[in-house]
Amino acid sequence: MRLVFSQQLKLKEDIVFTDVRGHSISSDNQLAATACSDAIEKFVRRKIDVVPRLQESLAADSTCAFSQAVFGLMLHGARNHSLRDQMSATLTLAREAASPVSKREALYVAALEKAVTGDLFGMVSCYEDILRESPTDLLALVMAQGELFWLGGMAKAKQLSDAVAGSWNQQVPGYSDFLSVRAFDLEEAGDYAAAESAGREAVALDQDNVWGAHAVAHVLLMQGRHSEGVDWLQGLQGNWQETNQMKFHLWWHQCLFHLERKEFDSVLDGYDRWIRNHEEVLVQAVPDLYIDLQNGASMLWRLEQAGVDVGGRWAEMAELVVPRMADMTSPFTSAHFAIILAAVGQFDDCNSLLQQMSAFSADRADHALASRFGEAAVPAARGVILHRRGDYNGAVESMMPARHLFWQMGGSHAQQDVFFQILVDSAFKTGRKELVGQLLNEIELIGFTEPSQRVAYETASQRCV
Ligand SMILES: [Fe+2]
Repeated sequence: MRLVFSQQLKLKEDIVFTDVRGHSISSDNQLAATACSDAIEKFVRRKIDVVPRLQESLAADSTCAFSQAVFGLMLHGARNHSLRDQMSATLTLAREAASPVSKREALYVAALEKAVTGDLFGMVSCYEDILRESPTDLLALVMAQGELFWLGGMAKAKQLSDAVAGSWNQQVPGYSDFLSVRAFDLEEAGDYAAAESAGREAVALDQDNVWGAHAVAHVLLMQGRHSEGVDWLQGLQGNWQETNQMKFHLWWHQCLFHLERKEFDSVLDGYDRWIRNHEEVLVQAVPDLYIDLQNGASMLWRLEQAGVDVGGRWAEMAELVVPRMADMTSPFTSAHFAIILAAVGQFDDCNSLLQQMSAFSADRADHALASRFGEAAVPAARGVILHRRGDYNGAVESMMPARHLFWQMGGSHAQQDVFFQILVDSAFKTGRKELVGQLLNEIELIGFTEPSQRVAYETASQRCV
């Protein structure tokens, strides 16, 4: 029989289970707590089967508020509007859950509530509150980084990992995963030496640590160390069998290195086998996962820009995007939707997408993403579409005033670069040589070593600078 909160704390403390780092999971069912803890470990390590383990937890104890909250937050993380009703229902169950919860667990429920209402900065504040008292709560740190990443808030993410770093050492379970979070924060902040050191240490401690591998791959890309990048990722690919869709993103990185070496056959092979392969079980399960579509759109655009015929590869993504044009869960993803729809010439759909993005920005001032759509994603998407239509002046006009705000869409410097590539190509095709030179300088200031040597920029650079 479940005890009321005060009784449990006073008389039955032993029925409050913990995760591997000692943080409470309030349930009177051991299976529920164990499955929830296991799901957390899989999540922070970017492994498959997070949701099935949470479902096992909830099947064993549907009144575990913490498991309900974590499940709802996973639904939020999928950034798909079709999951919004399920998220809200999960929030209701978490609120109604009979289980006694600690203050920390209550903050997870509050974070889910903020996610449902679109108060995404409030959501991050919940994670900050958790980390202030529980600096080794890796779930909160990983969730905060993920949320801030898609809000363009990586400077804040670095502050969070700065604040908790002193509490971490090799004796804390998950130290390798902490290092990988730290490494990516440092990389996006431009501290490449420290990022590479932390990322390599993370992988040395745990060869499966894809987030650490990923942080190092970013460093190698930003510094133009493309051959090292190929070797780095090739050496680690054998460890990714249990990895979630993050492995596809790592293949996107692998293809970027091949692209810079002009090994286009390798890029196409990697694209077909890993970036967009409907034979893959994970793709069959979720064919329209937001980051997978970003990977696919961004890679095909870059290939075409390099003069490679990509055949009919755009079509399957366009089919998946059309039903999601009203999905305003991720401005960066919506801007990639524009890349896909424009590539297949569906310009009526492009207009509809732009209208819906603009309307969301205008009508949902209460939502954290509204300004991000209006100030960054709409001008970026419009620029993409105009570029595809051959209106290069229009593309420059749309993207130039917004380029300093592209970070608001979220994503890494490496991912955001495709929009700068489209802007530079537009400037180049309008014959504005001085503008090309200015933009290449700005791209270098973002953190790319010698952008003029990179595939996407070399022609414009040679002819304009
Ligand atoms: Fe990446």
